[in-house]
Amino acid sequence: MTTQTSIAGIKLKSYVFNASGPRDVTLAELKKIGESAASAIMMKSCTIKPRLGNEEPRYAALPYGSIQSMGLPNLGYQEYIKMIPVLKKYDKPVFASVAGLSPADFPIMVKAFQQSAVDAIEVNLSCPNIKGKPQVAYDFIASANVLKKISRLGKKPLGLKLPAYCDLAQQQMMAKLIKKFGIKFVTCINSLGNCLVIDGHGEKPVIKPKQGLGGLGGQYIKPVALANVRMFYELLPKNINLIGVGGISSGQDAFEFLLAGAAAVQVGTAFQERGPACFNKIDDQLVKILTNKKYPSINSAKGKLKFL
Ligand code: DHB
Repeated sequence: MTTQTSIAGIKLKSYVFNASGPRDVTLAELKKIGESAASAIMMKSCTIKPRLGNEEPRYAALPYGSIQSMGLPNLGYQEYIKMIPVLKKYDKPVFASVAGLSPADFPIMVKAFQQSAVDAIEVNLSCPNIKGKPQVAYDFIASANVLKKISRLGKKPLGLKLPAYCDLAQQQMMAKLIKKFGIKFVTCINSLGNCLVIDGHGEKPVIKPKQGLGGLGGQYIKPVALANVRMFYELLPKNINLIGVGGISSGQDAFEFLLAGAAAVQVGTAFQERGPACFNKIDDQLVKILTNKKYPSINSAKGKLKFL
């Protein structure tokens, strides 16, 4: 039995790959993802110009996940475009991730990746860590303006990386935009923005930027991520694929996202903490669960959540 799957018609040899963010900024890091069992290579969200990111400490591991305010440290989109031919040698799909600092940045980067050998483009509408810049996807007018600018720039599939929505009305609004602008896949969810973790001994936050506010990831956010996958699974046509991300560190976690309706999962905090061995481990555990439960394939279990 295999966990092969597909996202927007792109074949993946397994159900598990990396989330944008951890260990995917430099070519050396991306090569390690290429060498690992990850079924695709997702690149760090890039901006027009290179960025060093926020002041340190900007990442902290926590008992059940992580908090970070990296501030988009990245090499600039042109460097990532240069890396694509090198990364394609690993014989797995390469995904770009673009994060504009202003609406005009998105079409510049999407157009450039459309003209590259990248397989798909994840458009990050949900970075929570740039001072003074709200998460685009919480503003449906701003989101529509970005989508209008990027939807007709080429044939490669576009996906959206969305923030956590905690109300059905928000998911309905976004689902309308996803359908209207021909988005082919949706990644739920980004880290839960602007959370605060306090070290009570030191009487201080655990990270420095934004007075300690940062994106929460890992097990803490898994129920939020599962709910977003599930609601978009119900709201969108079945040919728009969902990628689950948020608290996946075992095959059991991956299986829950599969039941909710995810066509694949990405791993963020667990990859940061455990390194590239996590991909094989999670996928192996998923194979065992599917085999025990007599599901012959990913598709046979996808979305099969039962109700009480
Ligand atoms: C960063 C964090 C995010 O959650 C994201 O979507 C993009 C960038 C960051 O701080 O680098």
